[in-house]
Order: sequence, then structure tokens, then C-alpha cells
Amino acid sequence: MKTRTVKVGRNDPCSCGSGLKYKKCCLGKPGKGTEDLENLYAKKYGIRLKKPKDIEGIRKAGRLVLETLDLVESKIKPGMITDEINSLVHEFTINKGATPAPLNYRGFPKSVCVSVNEVVCHGIPGERMLDDGDIVNVDITSILNGYFADANKTFFVGTPGPDACKIVNVTRECLKRGLAEVKPGNSLGDIGWAIQTYAEGHGCSVVREFVGHGVGFEFHEPPQVPHFGQKGQGIRLIPGMVFTVEPMINLGKKELKILDDKWTAVTTDGSLSAQYEQTVLVTNNGSESLTPYDL
Ligand code: MF3
Ligand code: CO
Ligand code: CO
Repeated sequence: MKTRTVKVGRNDPCSCGSGLKYKKCCLGKPGKGTEDLENLYAKKYGIRLKKPKDIEGIRKAGRLVLETLDLVESKIKPGMITDEINSLVHEFTINKGATPAPLNYRGFPKSVCVSVNEVVCHGIPGERMLDDGDIVNVDITSILNGYFADANKTFFVGTPGPDACKIVNVTRECLKRGLAEVKPGNSLGDIGWAIQTYAEGHGCSVVREFVGHGVGFEFHEPPQVPHFGQKGQGIRLIPGMVFTVEPMINLGKKELKILDDKWTAVTTDGSLSAQYEQTVLVTNNGSESLTPYDL
């Protein structure tokens, strides 16, 4: 793959990541004048850019995640318990020669996160029964040939009421608008700004404690991708970055608490919370979702 280079002025921060001005650092030093962006992002931010063969691997893992989400969607109905969703995801993933990333991740006991109604994220599948009118987020991360892809959707159980419709529609649009900001030259803050502005403009709130993340070689890699922020702030996006955008949006207040199981995050006011997530690649001229579905 061609190495990427960047032009640095004498008084600019040196691209080696030292924090010194270029003229006081690498200028004129043979072999160091222009460190490539790949090394800069690795040293400064811990971000590992993905090469074409990596991208193909993550894309394949992403296709499996989407197939699994489709399978779950086709089976969801009132009366089902959330552990049945875990069984579906676990068996389908294993049968495809892949591994469910959540299982035993930092002690998580199941193969998928299933988050109902007021559960913001990290719901542990169990005996909770899905009722008509519930919303349920199913968050799937699969490891295929060593590559990770991470995506989720929020489904209706039976017939949704107006609150369920509202939070799901607002959250889906938040992901769409966040993803639209993913292109070289934009910053992470542009993504967060687009999401926060839309959610709050509709009287909803953005969860702060959980953010998107680099993904591909591992489950969670740098950078963190907040779903709130300011235009132009934060790390600049460059081709080869792969990360998730996964806004968690509450119908009421943004605050959450973690239950005694140490995982389940719920809204403190009991209001509905929804989430949508895709794994996205920054390309030379924009972005490509590696877990693409219509928004
Ligand atoms: N899939 C979640 C995410 O989007 C992380 C779940 S961690 C687990 O980042 F351990 F709960 F699975
Ligand atoms: Co994620
Ligand atoms: Co996820």
C-alpha cells in the first residue's frame, strides 16, 4: 500500500508526534523529515489504520453480523425471553465458523447484548420476557478470521406506541446524520455535533458514558467516538480509520445507572432508550459502512 505523507510547516507541530515545532525537531534530520500519517496516528493516538486486506476481513465479519441481525429480527415476537436471542446469535455465529466477541469479554457472561426499553446498553440475556410494544436493542459483534465487526439495531416487539416510535426514529436518524459526517478532513467532533444537535432538537438526550470506538483488530480500539461535541473539535479523520458510530439516545434525561450485575445500564428516569450502530471505514473521498443497512 502506498504510504501517506503530510506537508508540515517550520512552525507546525512536528509530525513525529513529539509535540515540538517541526524546525526544532525532525526538520533536516535525514530520514525523519516527513513521518507518514500512519505512524503519526499510531504514536499520537494509538490508532491502527486498516489496509485493504484488513478492510476485506472486517467487511466479511460485518456481513455475518448483518445476517445475524436479520435472523434475530425474523424471530422476535412477544412472549420470547431475551436468552432465546442469545441462543440464536450464539449458535448461528459458531455455525458460521466465527466467535461471538461479547462472550467472556471483561467477564460479560453471554454472546450478545440485549437491551429492552429503559436499558441503555449491555443488557445481559436472561429470563426477561418481551412484551407487545417493547423496544429491544440487539448488539452483535462477531470475530471472523481474526477480524471484528460491531453493529446493532433496535427492533419493535409487536405494535409500537408513540413513544417507542419516536425514540427509535430519532435514534436511527442520529446514526444516519453521524455517519454522513464521516469523511477525510472532518473531525470526530463533527460526528458528535451532528448527533447531539438532532437528538436535543427533538427533545431527546445523548448518553455520555458510552461512546463509539475503533474496531477491527480488537473489540475496542482507539479512538473514542463521542456522540456529542463541537464542530471541528477532536481528531481529524483520515483514510483507513475504522470505527463505530453507535448513539444511545434517551427519550428523557441523559443520566444512567449500572445495575448490580455490573453491566446493565438503565436510564435513571426510567425513560425509553434506543441505539443504532454501524462499523464505518473512512475512504479517500468519504466513507463506507462495513456493516451497511438502510437508515
Ligand atoms: N457491542 C458493544 C459496543 O458496541 C460492547 C459490548 S461489550 C460486552 O461496543 F461485553 F457487553 F459485550
Ligand atoms: Co461498539
Ligand atoms: Co456494539
